[in-house]
Amino acid sequence: QIKGFVFDLDGVITDTSLYHTKAWRQLAEKLGVTWTKTLEDGLKGISRMDSLEMILKAGNIQDKYTQDEKVALATEKNTNYVNEIKKMTPANILPGIKAFLDDLRANGYLIALASASKNGPTVLTQLKLTDYFPKVVDPASLSKGKPDPEIYIRGAELLGLAPEACVGVEDAAAGIEAINAANEVSVGVGDATTLADADVRFDDTAQMTLANIKAAMG
Ligand code: G6P
Ligand code: MG
Repeated sequence: QIKGFVFDLDGVITDTSLYHTKAWRQLAEKLGVTWTKTLEDGLKGISRMDSLEMILKAGNIQDKYTQDEKVALATEKNTNYVNEIKKMTPANILPGIKAFLDDLRANGYLIALASASKNGPTVLTQLKLTDYFPKVVDPASLSKGKPDPEIYIRGAELLGLAPEACVGVEDAAAGIEAINAANEVSVGVGDATTLADADVRFDDTAQMTLANIKAAMG
């Protein structure tokens, strides 16, 4: 019996994954790291410092920088990202998401946010969705990021539910892996190949309704 929904933010609720990509790509190219689709997809859902490490490894330059320099590089990316999200409005909510959240609320489902982003609360404010997410996992409190299940287990805990009573919603392969390892029902939104391990998948957010999820779960 499903009682709660634990949501990823970037790429699920809103189109911020595009801004993360843009800011990381700018930094990667400045560092001489070739940008590929594999790198782009692999970064989705990954914490800020883990993302930087992934980019440096892709360019085989992970040993070139001190820890302080790495923090400065990650901060540079974040400054660019924050400049983008400051311009966001509720118009940046992805199609169908507002209706989906309203439907969940009206049907008594509990809702939590499980985003790896430290900018998550700011994005929710920009979108005017803060009230929909009374429970937000603090990514700074985690010992491991996605694909580790910790963030989704914590989301269920915040709702006072067993993981088995929760659905997790994700656009990234690392996120689906985390949800599955947490023993929640995984709902993926996006590409079929990337999200091959999702229990239920939709091409886009407009199709992700409570009725469609229930039908797909049987
Ligand atoms: C999400 C995004 C990632 C991002 C991570 C950390 O998981 O999908 O692309 O790197 O959050 O975001 P932050 O805003 O804390 O740098
Ligand atoms: Mg995401």
